[in-house]
Amino acid sequence: MEILIDQQKLATRIRELGQQISEDYRGKSLICIGVLKGCVLFMSDLIRQIDGDVSIDFMGVSSYRGKESTGVVQITLDLRGNIEGKDVLIVEDIVDSGLTLQYLMQALQVRNPESLRIVTLLNKSECRKVEVPLDYVGFEIPNAFVVGYGLDLDERFRNLSHIAIYDGE
Ligand code: IMP
Ligand code: MG
Repeated sequence: MEILIDQQKLATRIRELGQQISEDYRGKSLICIGVLKGCVLFMSDLIRQIDGDVSIDFMGVSSYRGKESTGVVQITLDLRGNIEGKDVLIVEDIVDSGLTLQYLMQALQVRNPESLRIVTLLNKSECRKVEVPLDYVGFEIPNAFVVGYGLDLDERFRNLSHIAIYDGE
């Protein structure tokens, strides 16, 4: 498979994101909420680049994409902790149509966090169906199916250290 973003480029960009997030949240306590399972590698690297008071929590969502892409999203795992009055950063692997994040933002906003922002490693902006405010973006990528570094095709390839374009092998 063709490598789209290698290990070195990932590390460099994630260090930059971590520095930016550290500055933006200086003096605050930040809760990073990872969207399972794709976030896991990115999140573990990102939080180590954030200098400050960070805690983590996770959510599980499953998106059922109908032919019309109405985007019915279901929460399969909810947060352990309360986010009311907290500074919250959602950590996503990739934003495609935006439907998953739109749903998640609405579900978390009603719990009254002090602030709610999004960091995504990858952004396929060409594929957007609904607007979502992305605060931090690692890489803009073309409209291709990518795997690796947490991202899967039917649960495979999450363990790759780079992002590859899936080409049917
Ligand atoms: P959205 O709701 O269309 O934005 O979809 C977001 C979710 O779809 C991501 O969190 C991924 O789990 C999955 N996804 C979208 N594009 C890709 C891809 O290219 N490779 C792997 N998973 C993807
Ligand atoms: Mg995901």
